[in-house]
Amino acid sequence: RSSGTSHQSAVTSHSQMSKNLVVIGAQWGDEGKGKIVDLLTERVGAVARFQGGHNAGHTLVIDGAKTVLSLIPSGILHAGVQCVIGNGVVVSLEALFREADMLVQRGIQVYDRLKVSPNCAVILPSHIALDRARERAQGVNAIGTTGRGIGPAYEDKVARRAVRLADLMQRDRLAARLGEILDFHNFVLSRYFSAETVDFQRTLDELVAQAERIEPLLADVSVLLRNEMKRGTNLMFEGAQGALLDVDVGTYPFVTSSNTIAGEAAVGTGLGPRDINAVLGIVKAYTTRVGAGPFPTELFDETGEHLSRVGHEFGAVTGRPRRCGWFDAVAMRRAVMHNSLSSLGVTKLDVLDGLDTLRICTGYRIDGEIRDEPPLLPHRFSECVPVYEEHKGWAEPTHGVTDFSKLPATARSYLARMEELAGVPIDIVSTGPDRAQTIVLRHPYD
Ligand code: IMP
Repeated sequence: RSSGTSHQSAVTSHSQMSKNLVVIGAQWGDEGKGKIVDLLTERVGAVARFQGGHNAGHTLVIDGAKTVLSLIPSGILHAGVQCVIGNGVVVSLEALFREADMLVQRGIQVYDRLKVSPNCAVILPSHIALDRARERAQGVNAIGTTGRGIGPAYEDKVARRAVRLADLMQRDRLAARLGEILDFHNFVLSRYFSAETVDFQRTLDELVAQAERIEPLLADVSVLLRNEMKRGTNLMFEGAQGALLDVDVGTYPFVTSSNTIAGEAAVGTGLGPRDINAVLGIVKAYTTRVGAGPFPTELFDETGEHLSRVGHEFGAVTGRPRRCGWFDAVAMRRAVMHNSLSSLGVTKLDVLDGLDTLRICTGYRIDGEIRDEPPLLPHRFSECVPVYEEHKGWAEPTHGVTDFSKLPATARSYLARMEELAGVPIDIVSTGPDRAQTIVLRHPYD
């Protein structure tokens, strides 16, 4: 009985000590998570990436200086914060070192503060070749991937063929595994895609050189995070891409190849679902999407151009123009469910400055019926006609406003309507790219 009591108190004290938050994109990516993660990092001791790879583009603007991170957690810009790349991430070592070296040149001690899981699957040059060859072969049916080898790397992970970072520590094992996987890749590249093959020896030499550099960074990240929690450290799990690009619940097949939803924060770091206390979903005050796939509220008119121009809607990684459209509350409600969102962060409110009339999509019309759920069958998306409600715009700019009460009344009511449709409160509103251009209504770590 006494051991039962002490067990109980250990459990209670643990959960009182640290608070762990997942930050995910609740649309199709590019919601501005990087800025929000960076802002919240003041209150955390460790930040972990848990899925995706260097297909992400997290843009941070601090005191006017812009940094784009693709693989290393955004928390790296804060001195003293432990950064972690969890087992769910697919790692291009070339991208990792390029990014780390760029940060070191700016005086950031990356190599002291970054740990990477040895279980991460490695993105090989042949994955990139396969990704690009496949996209070329698809022609008009291409997904519009970032061409970073993400999909093929995840395929190999699930197929149990992947080279994992741990394999780099044993030269013989590495050569054997690489030989096997490259045989397969080169067969597909040459025979199926009539594309150029990838050289085994060159790839091996590169990996061997990279192995030496990655070794000191490898760590059991589950244990590391668990120990941080025991010390009372707040953790943050930094999502990449967005909920609607999730390989299971997103707009398949126009998705990325990882689970982007909040549950993956536990899976992709080797922790359990009860280690997550809250989930912040980031949404733009409108919608964008890069690459192909359904986008019911997409605009092809002057308003779409306004959003693209004022919002600088070009991909941070590929530079591709993003498709733009009105805010889609049907999609948002879906994201609230898939991620059990506890609150919202709304970004780029200021991009709507100057528009007379705003629209929010509250339903999809399909087969003459209005529904507030997306169609179950993805191919029916193209038949959906969005149903909108209109909102008055605002004449005074919201750009740079840091106090909620200073927002124009119509901007406040637009946000209130977003909140009502989501069924969860808005914690943060972003009114410009800089860290300072933010309204914090309630701090997610409070
Ligand atoms: P992949 O992740 O490179 O395989 O690309 C699959 C789809 O996800 C494409 O439509 C990409 O444009 C999209 N995607 C991947 N990463 C991001 C991101 O960070 N932001 C927005 N879209 C992304």
